[in-house]
Amino acid sequence: MDFQSTATSPLSWTGDGLALGLLETDIQEGGSLVEAYQELDQLLEGALQEAIAEAEFKGKKGSTVALRVGGKGVIKKLILVGLGEAESLSLEHLRQGGAAIAKAAKTQKCKSLGIRVPSVRGDASATAQALTEGFELALYKDIRFKSKDEDKTPEPLAQVTLLELGDQSAAIARAQQIVSGVVLARQMVAAPPNDMDPIAMAQIAQDLAKDYGLKLEILEKEACEARGMGAFLGVAQASDLPPKFIHLTYTPKTGTARKKLAIVGKGLTFDSGGLNLKGAGSGIETMKMDMGGAAATLGAAKAIAQLQPDVEVHFISAVTENMISGRAMRPGDILTASNGKTIEINNTDAEGRLTLADALVYADQLGVDAIVDLATLTGACIVALGNNIAGLWSTDDALAEALKAAADSTGEKIWQMPMEENYFDGIKSPIADLKNTGPRAGGSITAALFLKEFVKDTAAWAHIDLAGPAWLDKESGYNPAGATGYGVRMLVNWVLA
Ligand code: BES
Ligand code: MN
Ligand code: ZN
Repeated sequence: MDFQSTATSPLSWTGDGLALGLLETDIQEGGSLVEAYQELDQLLEGALQEAIAEAEFKGKKGSTVALRVGGKGVIKKLILVGLGEAESLSLEHLRQGGAAIAKAAKTQKCKSLGIRVPSVRGDASATAQALTEGFELALYKDIRFKSKDEDKTPEPLAQVTLLELGDQSAAIARAQQIVSGVVLARQMVAAPPNDMDPIAMAQIAQDLAKDYGLKLEILEKEACEARGMGAFLGVAQASDLPPKFIHLTYTPKTGTARKKLAIVGKGLTFDSGGLNLKGAGSGIETMKMDMGGAAATLGAAKAIAQLQPDVEVHFISAVTENMISGRAMRPGDILTASNGKTIEINNTDAEGRLTLADALVYADQLGVDAIVDLATLTGACIVALGNNIAGLWSTDDALAEALKAAADSTGEKIWQMPMEENYFDGIKSPIADLKNTGPRAGGSITAALFLKEFVKDTAAWAHIDLAGPAWLDKESGYNPAGATGYGVRMLVNWVLA
């Protein structure tokens, strides 16, 4: 699919379909279009006004009208998408609008499509980027594991042109680079756990390193042992597959890095719960998504490697699966992490924080300015915030604000949670330094407090629990049902800021 932008107005554009993003103020009391659209309506022989009247279209956010406008004109299909009130028009509205247009264009089987939307705050570049993001994210379809041919027929849509925005090829390219990272994350999370295993994850890191010139270090089991990563290896020991500790680095090609950052992702390619086996109704059948943090990390690596910011970024994940076997870590075992802290295992299903412990110690030794970890860490976070909102914990107010701002502009929802030190008592062990779970109440907070024990020297650290938004049961806007690729866009914005 070829994506372009041009200064051309809808009046002189010809093609298969025309999509218009309309504001509530574009439609007057009584349902007639404002003056600015009269000429276009005449060109379309009144089809525009007719469609609006027939559908009682008022430009409300989320409303869509799509129809054929007869065979004679220059345009065969018309798509109208409501963008809501002019004052509240945001980039996220445009992303959602782009998604609605993409879906309508698909239903209408458009081959070429012109899109005209109002610019957000007069910023044509940001407008083009948001529209492209929403449009391409919405068209994503995962057919990798389908065998039938009809599921694999290509979309008819070959040419998309953004109208009246001038040349925004740089913004479109930026959007496509970011989308490629989101798509990679979605594909990793959606892939079944017999396919997306630790070896496959390491291979993806290797491909990224090769394709985009990133530096790659993979610590095999022996290297992890040498570093004393007893917490990570304790989780890995029941698996028949080798654990892989992935460390990708992006460094600017020229000049010195403005800042150094580390992104750490939880990478459980499957979480059975271990000997505290997950039961029926626990969601065990979707626990392939337990590498959603690692997927966001590698997805961000892919986008950032293409965007080439003047920032050094480390992408880290301790990848394994949480399984059962005669070699499995037992409830009651005591593990020693790479910073020397001892952990009594009172529940083998709280494995993510164990793998993250050693990954955070590793990141903490890199001398970066900030570490952000992302993890599908707790069901408790879903209970607290629901499926659409990630939890955010930080020891540093500026970092928390930066992440919230980054998430806000991408439409990825996040909510800061308290780092309630009083709850630390809940994860004190009578026999070791820590135990790996606390009481049920405040379970996502004690998880964050546990992680904090493994960051010592880095000035700023934040933890994002994306157990909810990494995976959605229902399609919504530009997000498909299943893997969303949550976090990639926020991470990109944060790194670029
Ligand atoms: N991977 C799960 C958390 C999770 C739950 C992710 C639902 C996505 C959807 C994590 O490893 C886990 O099992 N957490 C336990 C912790 C408990 C044993 C303290 C949980 O949330 O029940
Ligand atoms: Mn678990
Ligand atoms: Zn898990």
